[in-house]
Amino acid sequence: MPRVFKAIDIEKEEKEIKRDYLDRHMPHIICDDEVRKGEKFKVKVRMGEEYVHPDDPDHFISVIQLWNRETLLAETRYTAGAYGNKPSHFEVDFYIVAPAVNMNLSAMAVCTKHGLWQSEEKQVRVV
Ligand SMILES: [Fe+2]
Repeated sequence: MPRVFKAIDIEKEEKEIKRDYLDRHMPHIICDDEVRKGEKFKVKVRMGEEYVHPDDPDHFISVIQLWNRETLLAETRYTAGAYGNKPSHFEVDFYIVAPAVNMNLSAMAVCTKHGLWQSEEKQVRVV
């Protein structure tokens, strides 16, 4: 069973000490707070706020997933070098159609060296 690093579980002190390490591995969901039922909308998942992640042959972000509660909606995969072997904010835009009920989105990301990371949850109201 892999350990999942979650934004919510990380203590404030640990956040200060390992700020760069934590930041570069944390996926963030960027989308509207409110969307219309049946309409397509964009959900951006971006790694890190301040710090970029390496794109080395043995150390890169290999997978980014988008979840709605327990359902995997979409995922993307990278190979090493997709970002030119330069540190970068790995990011992807997913386009999904809003279902009939409110959504509780989260993102997961895999670093080939540092494991599995889960974003904070993002509530999306469907009207
Ligand atoms: Fe890493």
